[in-house]
Amino acid sequence: MSDSSRSLDDLKTLLHSSVGDDLQQKMKFYNSWAETYEQDSDTMSYSAPHQTVKFLVDNFSGRPEQVQVLDVACGSGWVANLMVELGFKHFVGVDGSQGMLDQAAKTGLYKELKLALLGPEPLPALSGMFDVVMIVGALRHDYVPVSVIRELCLAAKPGGYICMSRNGQKSESGNKYKVSMEKELQLMEEEGLWSHVITKDMGKYMIDMYNCEGVQNENYIRGTMYLYKKSLN
Ligand SMILES: C[S@@+](CC[C@H](N)C(=O)[O-])C[C@H]1O[C@@H](n2cnc3c(N)ncnc32)[C@H](O)[C@@H]1O
Repeated sequence: MSDSSRSLDDLKTLLHSSVGDDLQQKMKFYNSWAETYEQDSDTMSYSAPHQTVKFLVDNFSGRPEQVQVLDVACGSGWVANLMVELGFKHFVGVDGSQGMLDQAAKTGLYKELKLALLGPEPLPALSGMFDVVMIVGALRHDYVPVSVIRELCLAAKPGGYICMSRNGQKSESGNKYKVSMEKELQLMEEEGLWSHVITKDMGKYMIDMYNCEGVQNENYIRGTMYLYKKSLN
């Protein structure tokens, strides 16, 4: 650990300062956090990028080097960094925080990086362009609304994959988001937009920064990963 590393207690205070439903405020928070986001997320044992990328490759058929990936809420580019190690090469990223996009640009992995506040603004991606659409760490009530999931599906090519992970924090708003999201996933399947491939639990999504009782006594938030395949017509 370098001298500049924040402790879990420092991070708890930092994250508490970001609580609230105002998306613009949230993006300001991410702008100011961007430079140390990955280091701090490591301290919080945030493992959603690793687990979700593994989940995708375990269940995906295709040649990674040929695949066009849309990384939604790409943040600092962590997901693309992990996918590159597995042979993926072509990425477009979208995020609502310019600070996070600046970090993502430093990876040199993205062909394009687009700024958009999802929910209020449409997903800036042409329909039917991507073999894989990823969204990691952003499906929660105060981040990306459930309505955006249809836009993820729209951006995928027919037969393409939509790979999502959800933070499973136990709270009234968290539970409501889960119910509403899973209802939408089911409805989209009934409408013939896509088919379900697999859903998997993540035992340890990250340390629960809102309920942990210090470094020695960590509780973990669970998470869920979902993989869908867009219908051919
Ligand atoms: C926890 S980070 C996840 C980043 C990356 N996917 C990862 O797993 O490391 C959440 C990201 O979602 C972005 N985000 C949250 N809500 C958003 C929204 N409504 N529109 C666009 N980006 C959003 C934030 O700016 C931030 O970069």
